[in-house]
Amino acid sequence: MKQIKGRVLYNQVLMSYQGAAIFLMHIQSPGLALDSKPGQFFMLQCSRNLVLRRPISVHAVEGADIISLLIAPPIDSGQAYKSGVRQLCELREGEELDLIGPLGNGFDISSTSKNILIAAGGIGIAPLKFLAETALSSGRGVTLLIGARTKSGLYPSMRLPKGADTVFTTDDGSYGKKGSVADLIPGYLTGVDQVFACGPEAMYETMQRHMDSWPVKKPVQVSLEVRMGCGVGACYSCSIRTRQGMKRVCKEGPVFDINDIIWQEVRI
Ligand code: FES
Repeated sequence: MKQIKGRVLYNQVLMSYQGAAIFLMHIQSPGLALDSKPGQFFMLQCSRNLVLRRPISVHAVEGADIISLLIAPPIDSGQAYKSGVRQLCELREGEELDLIGPLGNGFDISSTSKNILIAAGGIGIAPLKFLAETALSSGRGVTLLIGARTKSGLYPSMRLPKGADTVFTTDDGSYGKKGSVADLIPGYLTGVDQVFACGPEAMYETMQRHMDSWPVKKPVQVSLEVRMGCGVGACYSCSIRTRQGMKRVCKEGPVFDINDIIWQEVRI
């Protein structure tokens, strides 16, 4: 973990999700991307007026010096949080940005896994593109399930990793298969060694409810999004009770085994 001054190379609207503009930002700094692993995040300073930084997961890396982030206002966040995210969206090419990271544990692809299944609900694709690219680059097979409520909320297919078997689904059937990503998972488990997911809490709860009836049992890692203060394990504001005891989402997470999560304890 380090504190870094990065330079914004690119910051434009990529897509719209539930009425909110989602920005794709590229940041450059010497060695910035070197230590990042999929599922980790950076704490971004929004402006000098806002004390609290915003946690944003690494979306992709390019070489040693460039990381990409998807900047999305959490749907049910308060005004202060939204205004911080808005300031990030207003950063323009060439402007400087202060960030701390990479932080958190990240996803853990087992050395014995040959094929993995990745399930992205809505903007949950944010940390999963990097995961898919990492798995593909190490020769693993990747099946990528991507869902949204409607076609307009789907991540642009041209930016998805090449080489993954990708399946789209929409709740209303306006594109791809009809239904939710969580409902799609059981049909893609055969031959898969691990499952990784990122999406809304409701998606995880549906997954866990149905896991007993999955045709084959697989280990599942999910990435949690909770309110964070410091992002570095010092303030305990992100602590949740899990089946493995109290955990700080910023430090021991944000990636957890789905079976360790007590959903009533997760405060979004
Ligand atoms: Fe401070 Fe996690 S945000 S300990």
